[in-house]
Amino acid sequence: MDGNSKISIFKFNLSEKKYVVKKIIIAIDGPAASGKSTTAKLVAAELGYLHIDTGAMYRAMALKVLRNNISVHDSKKVAELAKVTSVRLVSNGIKVKVVLDGVEVSEEIRLPEVTNNVSAVSTISEVRALMVNEQRAMGNEGGIVLEGRDIGTIVFPKAHLKIFMLANERERAERRKKELVAKGVDITIDDLVKEILERDRIDSEREVSPLRKADDAIELDTTKLTIEQQVEFIVAKAKKIISE
Ligand code: DC
Repeated sequence: MDGNSKISIFKFNLSEKKYVVKKIIIAIDGPAASGKSTTAKLVAAELGYLHIDTGAMYRAMALKVLRNNISVHDSKKVAELAKVTSVRLVSNGIKVKVVLDGVEVSEEIRLPEVTNNVSAVSTISEVRALMVNEQRAMGNEGGIVLEGRDIGTIVFPKAHLKIFMLANERERAERRKKELVAKGVDITIDDLVKEILERDRIDSEREVSPLRKADDAIELDTTKLTIEQQVEFIVAKAKKIISE
């Protein structure tokens, strides 16, 4: 066989496949500080997918509530405010910006005051309904990695791949501490463990869409894994589904 015929066989095989690549929906859920964001971002980059951090959307809403001096426990007022609030995730292909009412708030939503109040805001059903609509609109064409608490159970119960990430609370506190130290925030590991467990309690005990593992989700305990190992595990599962 000469070189030319090899080339034509290659072309023929490619055209048989019609260049159709399946774009799947990947749902990553799990408790606070379990490594979802870092992992989801890298998985999305590896697959050329969009990364949607749904926690960032609830954080933006919590920031607005705090800025308006409304109590996070006043569900009626928070629900009214949510109706006149726009929370968008805007991607430039490299980074996803969190935009609240037209202004970027990617940094502000990570402040401890927001972290300590976001779980309460996210228990309010009207807030959840607005966020879930937005998340479905962004994700329903596939090619997306969404991370949060209710992606595999409520937002996309038919997601092609569901991962439930876990890590013990000490490890989670250590990871969060590293992030906070880099931002100049000083907090002890014991206080971080308390804060993480309290958020998990509120997220798991709320009535609407509580944090729970979907029956068909794969549990991934990352306590002893490196980020590279976590990413590799999920990407391998995704590629298998894409190629099926
Ligand atoms: O992932 P995170 O820590 O940034 O999320 C912040 C809060 O938002 C979390 O305490 C619970 C809430 N949340 C939620 O209720 N549902 C989601 N899908 C994502 C986050």
